[in-house]
Amino acid sequence: MSPRAKTGGASGEEFARAERAAKFILSKTRLRPRIGLVLGSGLGAFADEFASTKRIPYQKIPHFPQSTAVGHAGQLVIGKVGAVPVAAMQGRVHFYEGYTLKQVIFPMRVFARMGIRAVILTNAAGGISRDYKQGCLVVLRDHINLQGSNPLIGPNDERFGPRFHDMTQAYWKPYREAALEEGRRLGIEIHEGVYAAFTGPCYETPAEIHAVRTIGADLAGMSTVPEVIAARHMGIKVLGISCVTNMAAGILDQPIHHEEVLETGERVKNQFVALLRGVIPRIAADVASV
Ligand code: HPA
Repeated sequence: MSPRAKTGGASGEEFARAERAAKFILSKTRLRPRIGLVLGSGLGAFADEFASTKRIPYQKIPHFPQSTAVGHAGQLVIGKVGAVPVAAMQGRVHFYEGYTLKQVIFPMRVFARMGIRAVILTNAAGGISRDYKQGCLVVLRDHINLQGSNPLIGPNDERFGPRFHDMTQAYWKPYREAALEEGRRLGIEIHEGVYAAFTGPCYETPAEIHAVRTIGADLAGMSTVPEVIAARHMGIKVLGISCVTNMAAGILDQPIHHEEVLETGERVKNQFVALLRGVIPRIAADVASV
């Protein structure tokens, strides 16, 4: 085997960078989170409620990408939700911002090197299923990657995971069930569905939405899927939750505005936060038992 094949060539560097970033983060706090959160558009405020908090702006973390999207603060917050230590990204970076997919998944690599074993990925999405209403929450059951690429293309570094990894349970079933149960207990309108990832940055056309509905999509969005692929590559369990901030293009006879997306996110934030508070201890119990 050539040295390049052994270390994964360019991805040997990816591993070293992730290790450096993880060491830096862990040197700033005594907490050792096993759960990572990515707080999408409008949801970042959840991390402002944590106890024993340490905030680290992304620009301070070695090699970390900076987020440019409106509604994304761009800092890592390490703190406690109840008794559970968590690491939360207030804002993520997207493919449409011009980052490579390797940059988009770098925070997941760092999470893994920090010892994180489960992630909760949240996002804003357009609702396609006729069962959904603006403002409802949807637990992701599966996804369809329509971003035209995959973050793992290129040499594989076995220290992260295998060349060909399984995606049959991309979204961990017990976590999905826990989220649905908690949602119902809280009286929140909550569904389960399939997320189709487009690149953005424009919203989809009605014909695109019609096409993906036909192939089984319930939601359309511009994020999350690269992170899920990377997390599963490293054996990290995933819970994905979307907030239906608007109905997708052509579902209603009206245009989609970014302001509407932000407003709906803001309106259901409290429900989203309550759901996360309910689910986190259940996921903590699972990751503590492995
Ligand atoms: N499409 C894609 N991404 C989105 C949407 C949408 O309708 N709403 C919020 N994020």
